[in-house]
Amino acid sequence: MAYFDHAATTRLSERVRKAMDRHLRDVYGNPSSLHTPGIDARKTMNTVKNRLAEHFGVTRQNIVFTSSGTEANNLAIKGTYFRHPNEQIITTTIEHHATENSVRFIERVGGKTTYVGVDRDGFIDLEALKHALKTQTSLVSIIYANNEIGTIQPLKKIIPIIKAHGALLHFDMVQVPLHQAIDFSELEADFVSLSAHKFYGPRGSGCLIARDPALLEPLIHGGQQEFHRRAGTENVAAMVGFLEAYEAARENTKAHTEHVDNLSHYFIEQLNVKNFDYRLNGPDLDHSRLNAVLNIGFKGQDAQHLAFQLNRQGIYVSLGSACDSDNIELSHVLRAIDVPKAYIKGSMRISLSDENTREDIDHLLNTLEMLFNE
Ligand SMILES: Cc1ncc(COP(=O)(O)O)c(C=O)c1O
Repeated sequence: MAYFDHAATTRLSERVRKAMDRHLRDVYGNPSSLHTPGIDARKTMNTVKNRLAEHFGVTRQNIVFTSSGTEANNLAIKGTYFRHPNEQIITTTIEHHATENSVRFIERVGGKTTYVGVDRDGFIDLEALKHALKTQTSLVSIIYANNEIGTIQPLKKIIPIIKAHGALLHFDMVQVPLHQAIDFSELEADFVSLSAHKFYGPRGSGCLIARDPALLEPLIHGGQQEFHRRAGTENVAAMVGFLEAYEAARENTKAHTEHVDNLSHYFIEQLNVKNFDYRLNGPDLDHSRLNAVLNIGFKGQDAQHLAFQLNRQGIYVSLGSACDSDNIELSHVLRAIDVPKAYIKGSMRISLSDENTREDIDHLLNTLEMLFNE
């Protein structure tokens, strides 16, 4: 089999699984309990949080653990909105659904929102951002590294614009940790969302790093967990998994990046050698992008049909489009970057990791060649 859907999720690594197993076996107390098993669980949790906080350049009070990246985005966006219901929220036209639909919710309940467009490679329109900020704004929420086309936004240009205005800034960095460290202390953002299953950690384990969590209205009410920002008995094993996966990602960043860079160049080279009629949706390789996330449009093809046929051969890609049997809704991201009509329907996402090999890519391209000639 050849798995090319690492932007959707990654395998739980053995190292992470073992760390979580150890925890699940040995520590069963509720971190809120005052007896010894509870205190043990609380100690583990605080150790995990302190270590992660050190990696991020914050203190543990700045980390709110959540059930997912989706929940982290919801907390940043709705948590800010509920504090400032009369101010607008700005986002972009190429966000993950977790952001897009949080912002749509705010519209439905009467809030003000603005979607800033992007250019043909997915880079935010800075003039449109400046213009949007003329209206009273509580939060700007931006996907730092795009999950469909890989575009990495130019922080050095974006941050001064937003700071000059005084709005809060949220970056969805869910796709980032396999590729680079998260140094919140350097970032000048107010909120950052992360999710462990994108870097060989467990699903259901995300967090929001917050410069000042007290600025957020909690979305889940109950006990005092997560410094009153997110109630519910803590999933300490999920936190252990998050930390272990994050540390493994840091130890492996250089090797991972080199491997993925090599593979992505090989992939594009082979598309050319084999004379595929294609376009790379998003920036060119090595140009402010994740080389791991390659969105390829094959001219005149039907990507849904191709993905189905590839799946039958044990090759797993993704479409980035929501579809039911009769109705394909083309990806809002591909529409936002104006992918030409001849290519948009034939677009698929190939997302790589260090678990992929050149043989996987040969297998994919040979199978595609065969399907195109059928
Ligand atoms: C950029 C981005 N943001 C948010 C999410 C949501 O994360 P989760 O799957 O943990 O809910 C994803 C996952 O696909 C993502 O790629």
